[in-house]
Amino acid sequence: MVNETVVNKPKPTATIVVGGAWGDEGKGKIASRAAQDADLVIRATGGANAGHTIVWNGKKIALHLVPGGIVNPQTICFIGQGVVVDLDVLYKEIIQLEDMGVPNVRERLKISGRAHLVLPYHKELDELYEKLKNTPVGTTKKGIGPAYEDKDKRIGIRMYDILREYDELKMLVEQALRVHNILLRSTSEKESLFKALWKETITINLMSYVHDFETMIVDGDHLVEKFCANGKKIVVEGAQAYRLDKDFGDYPDVTSSNCVTAGALIGGHLNHKDVKEVIVVLKAYFSRVGNGVFPTEQQAHIENDEVYYYDPREGFIGDLIRDLGHEYGATTGRPRRTGWFDAVLVRSSKRALGADYLCINHLDTLGKIGKHLGYVKMCYAYQYQGDIIERFPDDINITGEVPTPLYRTIKGGWDVSSDVREFEELPENAQEFIKMIERETGIPVKYIGVGPDNDDLIVREDV
Ligand code: GDP
Ligand code: IMO
Ligand code: MG
Repeated sequence: MVNETVVNKPKPTATIVVGGAWGDEGKGKIASRAAQDADLVIRATGGANAGHTIVWNGKKIALHLVPGGIVNPQTICFIGQGVVVDLDVLYKEIIQLEDMGVPNVRERLKISGRAHLVLPYHKELDELYEKLKNTPVGTTKKGIGPAYEDKDKRIGIRMYDILREYDELKMLVEQALRVHNILLRSTSEKESLFKALWKETITINLMSYVHDFETMIVDGDHLVEKFCANGKKIVVEGAQAYRLDKDFGDYPDVTSSNCVTAGALIGGHLNHKDVKEVIVVLKAYFSRVGNGVFPTEQQAHIENDEVYYYDPREGFIGDLIRDLGHEYGATTGRPRRTGWFDAVLVRSSKRALGADYLCINHLDTLGKIGKHLGYVKMCYAYQYQGDIIERFPDDINITGEVPTPLYRTIKGGWDVSSDVREFEELPENAQEFIKMIERETGIPVKYIGVGPDNDDLIVREDV
């Protein structure tokens, strides 16, 4: 007999929202907008290194762990097995959302029992590794790398573990500290050796959360399976981005997770058959926080995280873009490095991301930049190792050469009101900029951000 569930195969219903560059493209805004009629929103990768800004009832909020869909009162929000969870941050975030009046946060938030925890020693190790490296990565110091490393070493502590008896949990913490102390003993950083006492305070702190979190801890496969089987709409809110992915990105200047589409599936308890569409989010200009290659970066005055504001006499374009785009890290407050839109990078991301559509945010901001300068630019190719190339070179690390971008220029800037909802209502040169992205990347631009609010969006149904 043919199994009925095979005959009634559910249609794929998951929209995957991922970052197309170096993070902070406005994924939170788009995922939360896409989640307006979603049944389940999933955070699948990364941890509190992410900072996703959403605007709810006119109030701006930067979320680090809770998916932005939480502001839709009907939506279940799920932190998947690929996320590394800092319970101190998560707890504060829940309180913040409740104080803002977001309804039933605790009832609607679920966490995979398999998600690993970020603990105080991970943050200490994050700082220490940065000190020991030839060139630091410029991490967010949120303990992300060391937490994933413990997962790989099989000494990680998971959400399920906080449900254990005190002594059992303490033994797990003690085991992790023992391993780290052996490794630390061979460094000259003796002062960083973890004290035996820590196992008590860490365990007590974890146990203090049991009451708040025990009802949120779930079997993630089972939860997601129920939504998929019933054809419910799912949105995955990606964190970080293509060039920060530990495999596809600018290793070693990357984060410690797979933040491309495949990573979002594993981390979100999904498989390829669940995927309805992939939306890759970008800004109309680019930004990066932390160290690493950034071919279209524009000169700016940022030294030791000190910011120098745009001075029309000095004319640093990087400062102008940062000032007009308010480009400061939502997690660390660090000034972001800024530069022009890079079509070479987007073209090269196809393997990693499998984009169906692009979302281009900050078209309003790029218009303002253009009005100041009299032009805007887009990189369409690189000069590299004596050739003109159209894809991101894979051996930058070895050659040490930063590619030189070749630009197309569009004259003037534009005024775009956040009320515009039709592509045809955009000024002609703004339309041309979007069409140029489509020509250069071969990916349709379905969504265009014209302001920070969830609704400040043009949706082109016909692309
Ligand atoms: P994420 O990490 O990808 O979610 O992005 P962030 O929240 O770190 O950074 C994106 C910033 O751009 C936030 O401050 C948003 O409020 C803002 N933003 C997003 N889309 C737009 C847009 O279309 N126009 C303007 N002016 N701001 C936007
Ligand atoms: P969202 O989700 C921008 C960067 C850090 C650093 C590198 C490694 O808001 O787009 P880590 O702390 O992860 O070990 O740091 O990755 N980074 C981000 N940059 N947006 C993010 O998240 C980021 N998450 C990590 O600045 O260069
Ligand atoms: Mg961000």
